[in-house]
Amino acid sequence: MSYRVALIGAGIISRNHLNAMKQMTALQAVAVADIDEIRGRKVGKEYGIAYYDNYREMILKERPDIAILALPHFLHEECAVWCANQGCHLLLEKPMALNIQQCDAILEAVKAAGVKLMVGHTQHYWPANIQAKALIESGELGRLIAIHDTRHVYYFSDHRPDWFLDREKAGGGIMMNLGAHSIDKIQWLTGSRITKVKAALSYEGTRGNVEGSGCLFLETTTGVTGIVVQSGYKGVPKDETELIFDRAMVKLISAKGVWINREGQYVMLESQDNIDPFELQFRDLLQAIEQNTETDSSGEYARSVIAALEAVYRSNETGVEQRVGTE
Ligand SMILES: NC(=O)c1ccc[n+]([C@@H]2O[C@H](COP(=O)([O-])OP(=O)(O)OC[C@H]3O[C@@H](n4cnc5c(N)ncnc54)[C@H](O)[C@@H]3O)[C@@H](O)[C@H]2O)c1
Repeated sequence: MSYRVALIGAGIISRNHLNAMKQMTALQAVAVADIDEIRGRKVGKEYGIAYYDNYREMILKERPDIAILALPHFLHEECAVWCANQGCHLLLEKPMALNIQQCDAILEAVKAAGVKLMVGHTQHYWPANIQAKALIESGELGRLIAIHDTRHVYYFSDHRPDWFLDREKAGGGIMMNLGAHSIDKIQWLTGSRITKVKAALSYEGTRGNVEGSGCLFLETTTGVTGIVVQSGYKGVPKDETELIFDRAMVKLISAKGVWINREGQYVMLESQDNIDPFELQFRDLLQAIEQNTETDSSGEYARSVIAALEAVYRSNETGVEQRVGTE
């Protein structure tokens, strides 16, 4: 069986989805919608699919099985609820929405419509991350004590679309966008949920009104502690996760591989299949649709990332540690 897929948003991430679909006979991209006509038409032409300037018109006309939502964060709720009501299964890009109220509205619509919702937490599908998770679960290196996740990337470059730097539209800055990946990575690797957060953010970006750096101290349900350090200011780019076990250290670079240090020297683990994470993500969604199960990145799970992010911003505002809301 082949599923018809429509893409909403022809921006930066759209090609990752379209390229992955090209590799999969089970998926057929049929159309793309974007309010930016030049961008939308360009993507449509490149992938040989129809272009629409209005996503509702596209969904009503094309009646896709699956809608991929790759939109600015403030549009996630409105678009996900509407597409679920039309009976589409959803692959909604991360972060799920601006706040947990919006997540709940999406979850309610998805439940009422009986469709599947996957949120694009791609960390679950990077081969190196899968290897690191298997190492933790094997117990081979002892007990995992802590995770130290570092991300430095120039966040205020001219190439970044304006909405990312507008708090109303993005929900926050580097933490909302890339911190969502770090929080997800820590929760998913450890099979836990973040329970408490102490955060300090800085707002010194050259554009917009969002935070440009942050340092988080996180506690989890399994007792593993996490430190997340992100800087969006100019400097040396870095995207690295250290796993501190009681018998070894592991360095994880999601897009590159895993290194183990048992006696003072890092040795790279032989890499497994190098499958495109976006393809693995689609496979998980298809399995959930066909077997009526949940994906590894369900709406309920993605809501927990938003709850932790809410605690991040509350902690920064109040200056004190915050519990992550579960209600
Ligand atoms: N999973 C990942 O690793 C990853 C990586 C990058 C981005 N993302 C996420 O993907 C989403 C999109 O990010 P992006 O970098 O592609 O942003 P982008 O700004 O490049 O693309 C968004 C597109 O949506 C279009 N758009 C805006 N309003 C619209 C509307 N009403 N109808 C149709 N189109 C509309 C814009 O014109 C733009 O082309 C965000 O949620 C982002 O956090 C995820």
